[in-house]
Amino acid sequence: MTDTTPTSALPNANFTRRVFSGIQPSGNLTLGNYLGALKRFAQKQDEGIETIYCLVDMHAITVWQDPEKLRRATREAAAAFIASGVDPSKSILFNQSQVGAHAELGWLLNCVARLGWMNRMTQFKDKAGKNAEKASLGLYAYPALMAADILLYHTTEVPVGDDQKQHVELTRDIAAKFNHDYGVEFFPAPEPVIEGAATRVMSLRDGSKKMSKSDPSDASRINLTDDADTIAKKIRKATTDAEPLPETIDGLKDRAEAKNLVNIYAALSDRTAADVVAEYAGQGFGTFKPALADLAVAQLAPISGEMNRLMQDPAEIDRILGKGAAQADAIARPILEKTYEIMGMVRSR
Ligand code: AMP
Ligand code: TRP
Repeated sequence: MTDTTPTSALPNANFTRRVFSGIQPSGNLTLGNYLGALKRFAQKQDEGIETIYCLVDMHAITVWQDPEKLRRATREAAAAFIASGVDPSKSILFNQSQVGAHAELGWLLNCVARLGWMNRMTQFKDKAGKNAEKASLGLYAYPALMAADILLYHTTEVPVGDDQKQHVELTRDIAAKFNHDYGVEFFPAPEPVIEGAATRVMSLRDGSKKMSKSDPSDASRINLTDDADTIAKKIRKATTDAEPLPETIDGLKDRAEAKNLVNIYAALSDRTAADVVAEYAGQGFGTFKPALADLAVAQLAPISGEMNRLMQDPAEIDRILGKGAAQADAIARPILEKTYEIMGMVRSR
């Protein structure tokens, strides 16, 4: 390796394209998770590349989780993936704790990541809040475990919402430092794939806040388990201004709430925001909100129905996750073994 080429600029030409992404099974999944992640995960599995999707239960416990609720949330998240179109016969779907290699590589990468890098992670600052001294050590190390999730499969593409961009960039830095420190070209530099009209779905109550499963106000989000009436009601009550929709998307610049609803409409209907604005230009929310509610109900009600159906048979969900974990392990183990070897561990059993 020449020392003039920064490892982070390494092309991934030597690596087979592979998609990996994860979602925390910590409570209700939202419309944000669906548009920013799940819907796109399902689309990726038809691109002729391997797709691996993980319920990151080990990330979830970085903040306290009631054990019974975590178990249920993990099964429910698996049901949400399947109901959103992730097909366990096309994609590998599993929960993180069933593949021990994640925790093992996580430790190895804790020793590569630098404190200075971790200190810049905005999600830690947001989640730890003012009382960071009381946060778990796991919450702080979380991005290195996420890097392990991704690098364990020599992943080249990571579809995520906008809020995860910094973590995927950190993963690239960790991969580059590992390759540099050990003089290898072992880990690829994974690309964050942040695309579509709704990479950051905002709260329905406050256009400056991300829609989140942890927001105390249930009216701020649409849960994938909400029924048709609830979805329609939440959209009708969403905070907006009183202006009609503008002629072009430039007119949405200082109208965060209006822009959010337009983006949601665009993402749900696989159109661009410009297209949606062109159609509804000059119309008020009295017209736009019912149209959006109809669209959201048409897309989301079947998903919650299918989730309910799948949740009737938790043993079948567990079987799917177990099978996925075995498939994931078969890819991850050899890569972990090679990592140990590169780092100088004696492996003799
Ligand atoms: P989390 O629920 O934090 O585990 O996020 C799982 C995935 O959903 C990640 O790819 C996030 O970027 C994405 N996501 C979560 N909330 C939103 C949102 N409000 N808008 C777009 N994507 C989101
Ligand atoms: N940190 C991600 C989130 O909070 C979840 C996650 C964990 C993830 N490991 C990952 C996402 C690997 C993509 C790839 O949303």
